[in-house]
Amino acid sequence: MAPTTVPTSNELRTSFKSFWDKYSDRPDIGAMMLNNNAEELEEADRHDILSSLPCIKGKDAVDIGAGIGRFTTVLAQTARHVLTTDFIDEFIKKNRENNSHLVNVDYAVGDACNLQLKDDSVDFVFTNWIMMYMSDTETVQFILKCLTWLRPNGHAHLRESCSEPSTGRKAASVSMHDANASNPTSYRFSSLYINLLRSVRVKDENGDNWKFNVRWSASVPTYIKRMSNWRQVHWLVQKVPADNNESVPTFDDLLEKFSKTWNDVQKEWDSLLDGEEEVFTDEIVTSSLSSLSSLSFPSDPCGIFVYTPRRISPHLHVNSHLLAEQFSANIWNVESEPYYYRTSLTKANTRKDQRVRFAWHPKFSQSIDYWTEKAAKFDAFVSTEFLTENDADLCAVKRILNDNSPVVLIEPLKKIDADKIIERLSTAGLKNIRVRDVTDEISTTLSSFNAKHNITIPSVKRWALIEATV
Ligand SMILES: C[S@@+](CC[C@H](N)C(=O)[O-])C[C@H]1O[C@@H](n2cnc3c(N)ncnc32)[C@H](O)[C@@H]1O
Repeated sequence: MAPTTVPTSNELRTSFKSFWDKYSDRPDIGAMMLNNNAEELEEADRHDILSSLPCIKGKDAVDIGAGIGRFTTVLAQTARHVLTTDFIDEFIKKNRENNSHLVNVDYAVGDACNLQLKDDSVDFVFTNWIMMYMSDTETVQFILKCLTWLRPNGHAHLRESCSEPSTGRKAASVSMHDANASNPTSYRFSSLYINLLRSVRVKDENGDNWKFNVRWSASVPTYIKRMSNWRQVHWLVQKVPADNNESVPTFDDLLEKFSKTWNDVQKEWDSLLDGEEEVFTDEIVTSSLSSLSSLSFPSDPCGIFVYTPRRISPHLHVNSHLLAEQFSANIWNVESEPYYYRTSLTKANTRKDQRVRFAWHPKFSQSIDYWTEKAAKFDAFVSTEFLTENDADLCAVKRILNDNSPVVLIEPLKKIDADKIIERLSTAGLKNIRVRDVTDEISTTLSSFNAKHNITIPSVKRWALIEATV
């Protein structure tokens, strides 16, 4: 066997550039999306991304790896100024031609890895498929630079093909990329980007620390609907102050984690959770929702909001695929652990039920903000460990539920104080509150589940099933 040689950083950089040089003779949306069916996807994909962005009216933005300027045009319609940049000359020529009517756009041909901007000089960094064309070292450097370039409270949007190409692993006929040609692209786990974005810190000239608040991680809907691919993932992050006493991770530490540690941890969780067909809460959740939903579920299909922090065990969650089938419902399942989130995306890609969507948020309150900003309402709320979560706020839950929507909570507790629980729920304005001790029921299910799946779930003193309506 020939010895494997690790490419130098220069060789890698050259390989990314050569990869894109091959498309320089066709500056069109097919090349931008590397998809032979780009015509069918482009508008919807663009709409998904643009509708997820914060308002940039009067702000300064930079579109990095902008290509022919698919997004530059709309960004420039509201921004004060947009710098649009790409390392392929022909793409920037086309970008300039497409946007010649706009006077607030500057164009630059250059490598994003060498892009120099002043500290605190932009309000919005827009990227859509760029870090996958960077080495691990360059990606860590790039994220640190984005944090430095942004003004306080400024936002960045990032979107990557995670774990597989946007066209999927098998769709050779759709991909424009010759499957036999070498492809330097990195299809990283979504969890790596979340971990990196959350870990970076920069110190400004006054000695103050800054970090990203990763507001959300979500799949691009068009790729779910048209390509059955949940692993087109995008993130919205905001530059916020960090604790000045907190130690700032070194570059080497970030790189080691990004290129090795977090990968290894993810693979361990994958081996434990991939292939999980059932969840031990299946029976109790579906029977509770069936009895409660006969009272409500006005919309068809109904929307169920599922929140599963999985604190005591990765197995303590809710089977959203089962809920979608049983209640013909659309499910929005919020995860708060990046590794489990990635396994949920894998499961979604396998099951291919478009009604089931997963998001990741660092805090429950941010999952509520996500939907209140869109003025959307759901018809049911199902959660595990909700009452034991620090920032879990029942008043906030009410904001995203229609009147009379059922609420189903499964809680592992030291002891069940029904009066206290009822008081907490009624203070939050919930009605028809019922607290049941389901310890025996869950223990029986758990022991047969453990025997079948060979997993361990920490023993819990009491399990409570809490049902209510809004
Ligand atoms: C998949 S296309 C996406 C283009 C555009 N963001 C969009 O979504 O329509 C990736 C773009 O990134 C550019 N690109 C990749 N690596 C780059 C780098 N290091 N510096 C500048 N541009 C880069 C490519 O030339 C290409 O135009």
